[in-house]
Amino acid sequence: MKKISLFLFILLAAFTVKAQVNVLSIDVAGGKTQINKNIYGQFAEHLGRCIYDGIWVGKDSPIPNVNGYRKDILEALQALKVPVLRWPGGCFADTYHWKDGIGPLNQRPQIKNVFWGGTVEDNSFGTNEFLDLCELLKCDPYISANVGSGTVVEMVEWIEYMTSDDDVPMANLRRKNGRDKPWDVKFLGIGNESWGCGGDMTPEFYADLMRQFSNYAKMYGGDKFDRIGCGSNGSDFNWTKVLMEKGRNNMDGLSLHYYTIAGEGWNNKSAATGFGEELYFNGLKKGLYMDELVSKHSSIMDQYDRDKRVDLLVDEWGIWTDVEPGTIPGHLFQQNSMRDALIASTTLDILNKHADRVKMANIAQIVNVLQAMILTEGNKMVLTPTYHVFKMYNVHQDATLLPSSLFCEQYKLGNDQIPAISSSASVDKNGKIHVTLSNLNPNKEIKLEINLSGKGFTEINSGTVLTAAAFNAVNTFDKPEAVKPVAFKNAKKLSDSKLEVSIPSKSVVVLELE
Ligand code: AHR
Repeated sequence: MKKISLFLFILLAAFTVKAQVNVLSIDVAGGKTQINKNIYGQFAEHLGRCIYDGIWVGKDSPIPNVNGYRKDILEALQALKVPVLRWPGGCFADTYHWKDGIGPLNQRPQIKNVFWGGTVEDNSFGTNEFLDLCELLKCDPYISANVGSGTVVEMVEWIEYMTSDDDVPMANLRRKNGRDKPWDVKFLGIGNESWGCGGDMTPEFYADLMRQFSNYAKMYGGDKFDRIGCGSNGSDFNWTKVLMEKGRNNMDGLSLHYYTIAGEGWNNKSAATGFGEELYFNGLKKGLYMDELVSKHSSIMDQYDRDKRVDLLVDEWGIWTDVEPGTIPGHLFQQNSMRDALIASTTLDILNKHADRVKMANIAQIVNVLQAMILTEGNKMVLTPTYHVFKMYNVHQDATLLPSSLFCEQYKLGNDQIPAISSSASVDKNGKIHVTLSNLNPNKEIKLEINLSGKGFTEINSGTVLTAAAFNAVNTFDKPEAVKPVAFKNAKKLSDSKLEVSIPSKSVVVLELE
């Protein structure tokens, strides 16, 4: 009898452990850190068809537009709640001379975009057009100043043109160009990729230059904006160390760039479509590396800045694949699949969890370039799976991060494995709890138990899911809605502090609890 009950106990225990293998515990009362809405930021560079033949078609275009901005794009971006937009680059920023892009259109010089395909641009989209766009989108502008090939004088004149209300030459030039009041510029980047396309500098040399530019930026701009130092290329931890050592008092934020390559490397990035499970898995695994990267850079920053005065800004990230066949290689036009939606959701979960140090992130890029929100062809427009993730996740903007711990099974492929689930949770100012969940396994639905502590919930207000028939599914101009969010019903309340969710294979889910 004793033996039988011991056997039954072991069986029950094994069953319980198995049944509870996927458990997410959320501390509803323990939130301390705000998820800065700017983690959901975007990046628009003069590159390929991001600006020209993308956001900007010009007032005379047959494509419906609002003062030159493409109308369907404008509406889609307004619905996305873009909090901040970085411009004009990227590598382009360090060749950009802002005075080429102001004043009467017919007097603006043509320029050659030397980094991106040698395309000749007419400068019809310049400072006024960008800052007016930010006002239309109700987002903060993040200006990237030219440190690589520009001068301090050029930068401070730009600052005066954009932000001064005084009776000074650059503010008067702005008034002459039809804009009386200054714009509200919140972020100023002191150079871009100064270790590479932005001047090929050593960290020591750049740190000195950054101090010089930053000094005058402060003199002319005061505290109107945060000054962002150019940060590391992925895992170049020494760059962060030197910048913090020499420049921490001269900047309010330090950037970080990290791109996900699903293939073997920069020379073999792999296609954005038609890939198999190995490239699906690799893309997700490389995307998850963001966690380690941010943790390591943050801990270096902690050594110099325990109070976290200097923010970390991941101001370029996303998957970089081969360009679409038949398009100009230098224009970086790539498709966007369900895999890429999962790279977006897992990265946003990671960044949410690092909200104590990470105050901004800007996915590259907003339209027609790299992991874009929107793709266009002639007068057609498509919202990508990544767009849908950003829209589903915007409930986390400025909400309070809820501490959580996740125990989950692994998604295995060959000899490799990654956690099968990604998640993050927050509570907004109205007390609504949002939980975002991704099932990375493309081959099975996963059951997850969610336990809330500190405070319970009354009901599951709503749920949305994004998934597709295949992990490499994309939205095309012929089938623009192959991957789109729908209502999610597979969450069941078990008690005031417990629910059970069945997360479909390769899917992203957002739940609202109240
Ligand atoms: O986003 C495309 C390019 O990637 C940017 O211009 C540059 O900063 C980075 O290398």
